[in-house]
Amino acid sequence: MKNIDSNTHVSGTSVYLDDVPVMNGTLFGAAFESPSAHGVIRELILDDALRIPGVVRVFTAADIPGQNEIGGIIKDEPLLADTHVHFCGMPVAFVVARTREAARAAVKKIRIRIDALPVITDPREAQAKGELIIPPRTFRQGDTDLAWPQCTHIFTGNADINGQEHLYIETQGAYVIPQEHNSLRIYSSTQGPTAVQRVVAAITGASMHQFEVIVTRLGGGFGGKEDQANTWAALCALAAWILKKPVKYALHRMEDMAMTGKRHPYAADFKIGLDKDLKILAYEVSFFQNAGASADLSPAVLARTLFHCTNAYYIPHVKATAWSCRTHLPPNTAFRGFGGPQGMFVIEAAIAKAARVLQVDAALIQKTNLIATGQTFPYGQIAASEAGTCWDKAETLYDVVEQQRKVQLFNTENKLLKKGIAFMPICFGISFTNTMMNNARSLVHVYSDGSVGISTGAVEMGQGVNTKILQVAAQTFSIPANKIKLNHTSTYTIANTSPSAASATADLNGKATLIACNAILDRLKQLAAEAFHVTPADITLENGHVLVNQQPSSWNWQQLVTTAFAQRINLSEHGHYATPEIHYDAVKEKGHPFAYHVYGTAILEATVDCLRGTYTIDTVKVVHDFGNSMNTDIDRGQIEGGIVQGIGWMTLEEVIYDREGKLRSNALSTYKVPDIYAVPKTIAIDALQTTRDNLAVFRSKAVGEPPLMYGIGAWFALHNAIRAFHPHADIPFITPMTPEKVLLALYSKTNTETNQQHAETVSHLGSDL
Ligand code: MTE
Ligand code: HPA
Ligand code: MOS
Repeated sequence: MKNIDSNTHVSGTSVYLDDVPVMNGTLFGAAFESPSAHGVIRELILDDALRIPGVVRVFTAADIPGQNEIGGIIKDEPLLADTHVHFCGMPVAFVVARTREAARAAVKKIRIRIDALPVITDPREAQAKGELIIPPRTFRQGDTDLAWPQCTHIFTGNADINGQEHLYIETQGAYVIPQEHNSLRIYSSTQGPTAVQRVVAAITGASMHQFEVIVTRLGGGFGGKEDQANTWAALCALAAWILKKPVKYALHRMEDMAMTGKRHPYAADFKIGLDKDLKILAYEVSFFQNAGASADLSPAVLARTLFHCTNAYYIPHVKATAWSCRTHLPPNTAFRGFGGPQGMFVIEAAIAKAARVLQVDAALIQKTNLIATGQTFPYGQIAASEAGTCWDKAETLYDVVEQQRKVQLFNTENKLLKKGIAFMPICFGISFTNTMMNNARSLVHVYSDGSVGISTGAVEMGQGVNTKILQVAAQTFSIPANKIKLNHTSTYTIANTSPSAASATADLNGKATLIACNAILDRLKQLAAEAFHVTPADITLENGHVLVNQQPSSWNWQQLVTTAFAQRINLSEHGHYATPEIHYDAVKEKGHPFAYHVYGTAILEATVDCLRGTYTIDTVKVVHDFGNSMNTDIDRGQIEGGIVQGIGWMTLEEVIYDREGKLRSNALSTYKVPDIYAVPKTIAIDALQTTRDNLAVFRSKAVGEPPLMYGIGAWFALHNAIRAFHPHADIPFITPMTPEKVLLALYSKTNTETNQQHAETVSHLGSDL
C-alpha cells in the first residue's frame, strides 16, 4: 500500500505547523539566547527592545506563574535563565511582538551583562571534576577480571564520537491559541504531545486538562522533538496565558541549530580480549557521555548505550560503565538510535583494533562472535537471534568472495585510488528501555455510513506510522483504505501518551488500534450471528462482504454497520495496549527490557582518493530482519534514509563547539550534511523473511532506528581503504571521518603499536592464522 501522505506531500497540501492558518491578532515570539556558556547574570537590559514599534512585552523568568522548570527525567532545567546561564543559546527572555520582524529586531536590542564562570565542553574533564548528571551505571556479565588471564590477545584503545545535528526539515515551533475556560490550544511540532502538555501545565501552574496539544504532522523529528519541542511550546503558552492572545514562534534554522541539543558526543576507553580462535572472551568499556548543561533525556540515552555496547555479539565477560557528564553545551538529546549507535561504534572500533594488529580481516572476528539464539546479552535477556542468518545470507546473496577479489584487484591496479570493504552487523532492542513507557491507546469510531475515523497517540513524522495504522484497521475490518481516515494527534482525544519514539510507535499504537477494531468487530459479528442464526465464529468479513460459514450472505459492511447503529450497538472503542513480557531491574541491571530485537548485516564499500583524501561510499548491501514487513515500500524508505543519515554522522557531519562553548558549525555552510553525491550509488536491501513469532504489529518488526547503524560501517570501510594505501597508518577512532582526517591518516607516521605488535603476533601465532 502506498504511503497515505504521498499525494498531499507531492501537491504541497500536507499541513505542518507553519500551514496552520494564523488568526487575526496573533502575536509573534522570538527568544533571546545567552551569548555565554556559563556565568552569573548581573544585568538584563530590556529598554531598547521595548522601544521597538510593535513590541508588546518581553517575558523573563520572573513572569512565570508556575514553576520555571522543564526537565523531564530530572528537574534540572529552567525554561528561562534566572540567575545563571548554563550554555550558549540558553533562552533568557522571550519577546512578543505584532510581527515576526519586530520580535527579532527587539531580540537584537536586548543587552545582558554576565560574569563569566569556567566553561567545560569536554566530558572527560566534567567526569574528572565530578560533574555528573546521574551516578555512573555498570552492566556486568561473567567476570572480566577472571577472563583476562585466559585471553591470548588483549588490546586497549579509545574512541571519540562526535554528535549530530538533527536537521529535521521543519524547524521547531509552536502556535498557541487561548480558548474559553482558561484553556489553551497548542499546536506544536513535537514527537511528545503529552510532554508538551505536562510542561505547559508546570509553567502556567495550571492542570493538564486545560491544555489541548495538537500535532498535525512533523517535517521530521529524528528524536530532536521528543523532549526539546517543549521549550517553544512553553514559551508561546506562557505569553498566550498571560496576554490572552494567540502567540506563534517558529525558529529560524540558525536559531534552531544554536539553541537545541544534538546527538550526544561520547568519549570511550575500551579493552578487548580474544582467545587464539578469535573468540572475544572479555570486553571492558567506559563511556563518557557529553550530556550538555542539563539532563534532558541523557540518562535514558546512556542506558541504551550500555544495552547496545556489545552490538550483535556474544561476549561472555563484560564490564561496561557509563558516566553522564555535565558540560556547558546545549542539553544533548534523543537522536535516531538513542545512544545505541555510540555504544556500537566502540565495540566495532575494538574489533578493528584487534584486526589491524593481528593482521586479520575484521569480518572474521565479527562473524566468529555473532550472538546465537539462547545466548545472553549482558543485561540478562536471552537472544532470539537472526545475526548469523543475516550475515550468512548477505555473504552468499551478495557474493562477498567475488567482491573482495575485485577490491583486491582494484587495489593492486590502482596506486592513488584505494577501496575498502566493511561488514556492519546490527542488533537493536525494540521497546522504550523504561518499561512503563511501553503503552499506547487508540480511539476508533465507525460512523453510521460505514466510514472509520482513527485517533491514536502516534505522531506522523514522515516514518509512515499513519499508513501502517490504517492498514491495521483496513485489514481487521476488511474494508478499503479510502473508508478510513487517520486524524491528527491530540491530547484531548488520547491521553498520557509516550512520545513517538524508540521505533515502537507502529507497534504500540498499531496494536492498540487492533485491540479497538477487534472489540468493535466482535460486537458486529455477534449481531450478524444473531441475524443469521449462527455463532459469531461462523461470521467473517471479506472485501466489505459479510460471509456466513465462508458463504456470501445478503449483508455487506454497510448494512452490518447500519443495522448495528439502528440497534444502538456501540460503534466506537478506545483500545489500550501495554507490551507484555518486558521487565527490568535497574538495581541488578538485569531483565528482559525488549519486546524483541531487530538484526541485520550491511556490507559497505568505499573508495578513497589518496591524493585528496576525498571519498565515495559506493555500495551498501543489506540483509535486514523485517520479521514480516507489512509495508515494504515504507520500510525500504526507512532503511535508505537511515543509512544515509548514518553515513552522514560517520563521515561528513562535524559538530564544532569552540572552547567557549559556542557552536561554530551553526549553519549549512559550515555543517556539511549528505547531499545526493554522498548517497551510495547502490543501496541493495534484501528482506530476511522470518517465521518466528514476535511481538511486532502483524509480526512486522520496527524499522525506524536500526538501519541508521548500518552507516557505522562507512567509517570502517574508509578505515580499510586507508590501510590499503598505508598498512600501518595511524587512524585514531575519531568520528566523523572527514576528508581532512582521511588525508591525515593516509600520510600519518607508521603506527608503531600496530607495527610492533604485528611482528610479535605473527611470531606468537605461528601457523595458527
Ligand atoms: N523517519 C522520518 N522520515 N522522519 C523522522 O523524523 N524519526 C526516526 C525514525 N524514522 C524519523 C524517521 C526515529 S528517531 C524514530 S524513533 C522513529 O522513526 C519513530 O517512528 P516509529 O516509532 O514509527 O518508527
Ligand atoms: N528510546 C527512545 N526514546 C526514549 C527511550 C528509548 O528507549 N526512553 C525514553 N525515551
Ligand atoms: Mo527516536 S531517537 O527514539 O525519536
